Amino acid sequence: MRHLHPGHVAWPHVWAWVLLLAQLWSPVGGSGHGSAPSCPGYVATRVTDTARGFRAALALNGAPCNRFGRDISNLTLHVSLDTSSRLHVHIEDTERRQFQIPESVLPLDRGRGAADGRAMLRLNLTHSSATGVGLQVLRGDEAIFDTTGHPLVFEDQYIEITSRLPENANIYGLGESPDWFRRDPANTTRTLWNRDAQDPFRENVYGSHTVYMELRDGRFHGAYLHNSHGMDIVLAGGTIQYRVLGGTGDLYFFAGPTALDVIDQYTELVGRPARIPYWALGLHNCRWGYRSAEEVDQVIANYSQAGIPLEAAWTDIDYMDGMRDFTFDPAAFPPAAMRRQLERLHARGQRMVLIVDPAIKVEPSYGTYARGRELDVFVRNADGTDYIGQVWPGYTVFPDWFAANASAWWGGELGRFLDKLPVDGLWIDMNEPASFCTGSCGSGMAPGQSPASSSSPRTPDASNRFLVPPYAIHNPEPELSSKTVETTAVHANGVIEYHVHNLFGLMESRLTREVMQRRQPGQRQFVLSRSTFAGSGAVASHWTGDNSATWQDLHVSIASMLDFGVFGIPMVGADICGFMGNTTMELCARWSELGAFYPFARVHNTRGARPQELYRWPAVAEAARRALAVRYRLLPYVYTAYQDAVERGWPAARPLVFEFPATAAVADNDRQFLLGDAILVSPVLAEGARSVEAFFPRGRWYDWYTHDAVEGADAAIALDAPLEHVNVHIRAGRIVPAQHPGMTTAETRDSDYELIVAADERGAAAGRLYLDDGETLDSPHRWLGLHFRARTLWVSPQSGCYAAGRPLARLTLLGVPGVRGVAVNGTAVECTVEAAGASVDISGLRIDLNVPSRITLL
Ligand SMILES: *[C@@H]1O[C@H](CO)[C@@H](O)[C@H](O)[C@H]1NC(C)=O
Ligand SMILES: *[C@@H]1O[C@H](CO)[C@@H](O)[C@H](O)[C@H]1NC(C)=O
Ligand SMILES: *[C@@H]1O[C@H](CO)[C@@H](O)[C@H](O)[C@H]1NC(C)=O
Ligand SMILES: *[C@@H]1O[C@H](CO)[C@@H](O)[C@H](O)[C@H]1NC(C)=O
Ligand SMILES: *[C@@H]1O[C@H](CO)[C@@H](O)[C@H](O)[C@H]1NC(C)=O
Ligand SMILES: *[C@@H]1O[C@H](CO)[C@@H](O)[C@H](O)[C@H]1NC(C)=O
Ligand SMILES: *[C@@H]1O[C@H](CO)[C@@H](O)[C@H](O)[C@H]1NC(C)=O
Repeated sequence: MRHLHPGHVAWPHVWAWVLLLAQLWSPVGGSGHGSAPSCPGYVATRVTDTARGFRAALALNGAPCNRFGRDISNLTLHVSLDTSSRLHVHIEDTERRQFQIPESVLPLDRGRGAADGRAMLRLNLTHSSATGVGLQVLRGDEAIFDTTGHPLVFEDQYIEITSRLPENANIYGLGESPDWFRRDPANTTRTLWNRDAQDPFRENVYGSHTVYMELRDGRFHGAYLHNSHGMDIVLAGGTIQYRVLGGTGDLYFFAGPTALDVIDQYTELVGRPARIPYWALGLHNCRWGYRSAEEVDQVIANYSQAGIPLEAAWTDIDYMDGMRDFTFDPAAFPPAAMRRQLERLHARGQRMVLIVDPAIKVEPSYGTYARGRELDVFVRNADGTDYIGQVWPGYTVFPDWFAANASAWWGGELGRFLDKLPVDGLWIDMNEPASFCTGSCGSGMAPGQSPASSSSPRTPDASNRFLVPPYAIHNPEPELSSKTVETTAVHANGVIEYHVHNLFGLMESRLTREVMQRRQPGQRQFVLSRSTFAGSGAVASHWTGDNSATWQDLHVSIASMLDFGVFGIPMVGADICGFMGNTTMELCARWSELGAFYPFARVHNTRGARPQELYRWPAVAEAARRALAVRYRLLPYVYTAYQDAVERGWPAARPLVFEFPATAAVADNDRQFLLGDAILVSPVLAEGARSVEAFFPRGRWYDWYTHDAVEGADAAIALDAPLEHVNVHIRAGRIVPAQHPGMTTAETRDSDYELIVAADERGAAAGRLYLDDGETLDSPHRWLGLHFRARTLWVSPQSGCYAAGRPLARLTLLGVPGVRGVAVNGTAVECTVEAAGASVDISGLRIDLNVPSRITLL
């Protein structure tokens, strides 16, 4: 599947690139703007070769249209083959006055060029007299991106780039927005403007990701626009159209041809996903509204009592004193009680994670504020005073991550906090950034003054083109500045919020991780961020924010999880049982069955809603125990899958279409998903249902529990799904490493290994196992190859020297009949063999995983 057929492209003589096409398309004045003036586009002149491509000057191809701003007459086009599979096409204003994302905020890989001039992508320039230059990105002779016939519009506050799409295109990505996994190619307006909103369907929420991938004729390719501005990306009328509020047209194209290749190529550019501590894969519990440390103690005890594995106890803003960062409520969550809780958790191999918000209460006697003021690290109004909005503690300032001393200040505050309570991970919330009022509502107030309970919408000054830009993106708020820091607020580098709004969460994530890393050099860190941007995967994990306890949100959670796999943030999950609203027993049971397979699995609930810890109902507890036993048993497999994310970006949770791109029926399947490439999860998503229609791609699949074989025929099969049961299948041809599920990941890690060998029609299977210490960044590791054919299993340590502390004790053979015993390296060994139906269970083995073994079935 990963065979590439790269064309030999030495860069042809540059002038051959400028192809004067006859006018084949009628002039299009930018679709979707009614009577907007048609724009002339640009003509390419002065094409010159560069080391990896070429550069051209672009000049306006007629009178400016000034559609949503002022046309910029002189542009420079840079075309560079960064790697054999990545093409960079950057259209920037020649004078470089437009804002561009600083390297310090999001360092990009520069590539190595294409080895031996081999290239999977190249660029053709086309030209028409009416619409000017067109960009054609070619993979072989197929145009995967083609702006021909659609004029480039490049204005100070509006950039429009339009590319043709095939009919009924398969597009994935473009977020963050709760939506189905496959975009509607005829009617999608994806708005990118980070927003604190409770996961409204198809609206913009917390993060911004311009990357998309397209599946065409069984092959994938991808594109990423490197631009931090607010924008709409519109799929309609057979095109994808970017409408961007500034910056430059900085595009990267990825040749694929598999989905995993595209994500590999994208994460090579923006940053590989961060290593996670092993414990992060356990079950997490949180809620907003715990009243005291004792109540959290009870929750921890009640999970244990119910026999439900709990890895980490989280506390929301409740622990703070007056909701001020880095403080503890002296009555309900005194530091001494929190410290005892942390020690008890650690003694049992469990963890603690606490929330931190970016907004800082304005209060001269509050040290965090006073020191920040002293170091001058807060966002300002245009007149130089502090910009004061409103968040949980009342009137607040907002850290300016661009400030020279932001790192010293945030590091000092976080450091003092972690000295008091060395928690295991940090959860950074409200970092869109969220504010409860519009504009600088607290500026000019006396210190200590409390905000009015609500602030009414205002009428922004329409003559200020940064408050009210000429093109209105589809941000469903009265204005761009609603419920966040106003677009005219000023950062230390003089840049206004308008340009960098979408970067706040990424910058906070990066700095928070750096601070934690400095405190614990060499240790893996865990940071969970609500707001994300391209590249956030390298510094943070993500949950999908304030979802609701509804059946639709249960279903959408799969699509959102898969979206974040495309975005290079594979450690992701939704709040299990739903955050907003009251869950029900049945919904919570189904959600724990699905959530047990999210890469990041956390129960979380809003204040005032009915409690939903997984032990609250016997049926939910039973559903959770059953599903989490599968999760914990699969930990070695999931951790191996996650290592592929760390090394290549490959998400652990994958849609069927990634593995079966030629099967048209799975193009929009977001009701099921795979963990890695071997485990198929088919959850119930409808109230009252006791069966599920699950699609099975061609090939054999084995039921996780019964080991019954299902013959996949590219069709749906009805599976029984009693309330406490989730359907999980193992793909034939795969070997799945596992361990005995414990009550914590540490306990699980400390158990013997087992291998589930699911043979295909030819009696063959293969898999891999990745091992390391799960804690340190430079841990020794070991990759093991696992191969089964002709009734022989080969366990082959490949790279690394990490020593597996536990032996291989058990084999489960699916589809391999007639086994009476096993021999290791030709010598029969003692073991217990039990056959049941199509499966054979061999236990009592003690095979050292640190040396190669040839295990033959007798
Ligand atoms: C790309 O341009 C070349 C000339 O530079 C032309 O021969 C070729 O047809 C173009 N390819 C496509 C797919 O339009
Ligand atoms: C654009 O470039 C041309 C050619 O270099 C130059 O003459 C002209 O002054 C430039 N226009 C602007 C607005 O900078
Ligand atoms: C397009 O999508 C919008 C928003 O989801 C929806 O309101 C509208 O009905 C859709 N239009 C068509 C023609 O499907
Ligand atoms: C924990 O369980 C005990 C005993 O069932 C119960 O009284 C208590 O309310 C529970 N507390 C929480 C926070 O779940
Ligand atoms: C901030 O940091 C810079 C250099 O890192 C230092 O020179 C300056 O004095 C600091 N500013 C304040 C207000 O402390
Ligand atoms: C949830 O249930 C509680 C009672 O447990 C009730 O007070 C509250 O109004 C309910 N909330 C919603 C959103 O229905
Ligand atoms: C099996 O044989 C290989 C190769 O001869 C050897 O390196 C290995 O130690 C043996 N494994 C066991 C478990 O004896």
